[in-house]
Amino acid sequence: MNTRETVTVALGDRSYEIIVGDGVLAQAGALIGPVLRQPKTIIITDKNVATLHLKILQRSLENVGVTHESIILPPGDQTKSFAQLQSLIDALLSHGMERSSTIIALGGGVIGDLAGFAAGITLRGLNYIQIPTTLLAQVDSSVGGKTAINTPQGKNLVGVFHQPRLVLADVGVLDTLPQRELRAGYAEIVKYGLINDPDFFAWLEDHASSLLDGNLEARRIAVVKSCQSKAKIVAADERETGMRALLNFGHTFGHALEAETGFCDALLHGEGVAIGMAIAFDLSVLKGLCPARDAARVHRHLATVGLGFGLEHTQGMIWNLARLVDHMQKDKKVQDGRLTFILTRGIGEAFVSQDVSRDDLFAVLEGTIAA
Ligand code: GLY
Repeated sequence: MNTRETVTVALGDRSYEIIVGDGVLAQAGALIGPVLRQPKTIIITDKNVATLHLKILQRSLENVGVTHESIILPPGDQTKSFAQLQSLIDALLSHGMERSSTIIALGGGVIGDLAGFAAGITLRGLNYIQIPTTLLAQVDSSVGGKTAINTPQGKNLVGVFHQPRLVLADVGVLDTLPQRELRAGYAEIVKYGLINDPDFFAWLEDHASSLLDGNLEARRIAVVKSCQSKAKIVAADERETGMRALLNFGHTFGHALEAETGFCDALLHGEGVAIGMAIAFDLSVLKGLCPARDAARVHRHLATVGLGFGLEHTQGMIWNLARLVDHMQKDKKVQDGRLTFILTRGIGEAFVSQDVSRDDLFAVLEGTIAA
């Protein structure tokens, strides 16, 4: 089995590699070497990830003579806040961070987004490396340079585009994730098939269960394919002025559901995205854009992997449709007062649309989550 594969994000002199494989965390020191400007790093991680993976990373850095300090933050979404950003920057500066030192973000999306943001603004921009430890972070948030914190007004509303110098995705560490979190991350993998790669979606229909059950080869193939897909889109539209918006497929609906459940464990981000993608298909059918059989196939697959509408954590929930639509209208993807939605003409044929009315939204929500 080929245990390591490299995907390039082509952004001129800011290009970087994503190295995917089983065991890359233990080889991190050697892999990171070529992108370090001085052998001095600061690792940012959270308490849970530190217990599981920090020692392996520290040892691999020591093996190649790279010094390291570690900043260990509390786990959870609340860490993506102004207060934590401020104390993180204080800690970076008191650790003697220099322009040529490198930050290593070791963790899931929260750590990657916060550490990336701190790297983007401390000393006017520091190099950073992403070592994502969740499936969601490996296939989405660690790639593409979006960094952010949350504010009381919403998620990811304050941040910068700041590309990492390297991403190391160790598919072996995914064994430590709870099944529910793994499934939620899987939703972002399905997204790549649904937006522009019908063959990949068909592959996922055949391989999802082995991937979720722990088959390393299936995981590696899925992570590589997802990163290739994202790298291509980011290289073409780094700042999301056009096609990068496709990566938000299912997200406007998903965010509204997350907002309604209070962004808590009742609905994980990926679970919201999965339901959001199913709603996007239903809306596309409703508008006469997409064959009903494609929507049915998507519903079937999501239900098979435990990401359908019948999520046990939200069962019995009575959704308030007007509030859901209001959440969508506050989404940061609103442009000139018009909502941008990603609709589809079929599996692998997503496109950006501003032709979605409030009535369309009520009609689709009444037929799906309120049904
Ligand atoms: N997660 C969506 C993006 O990176 O654009």
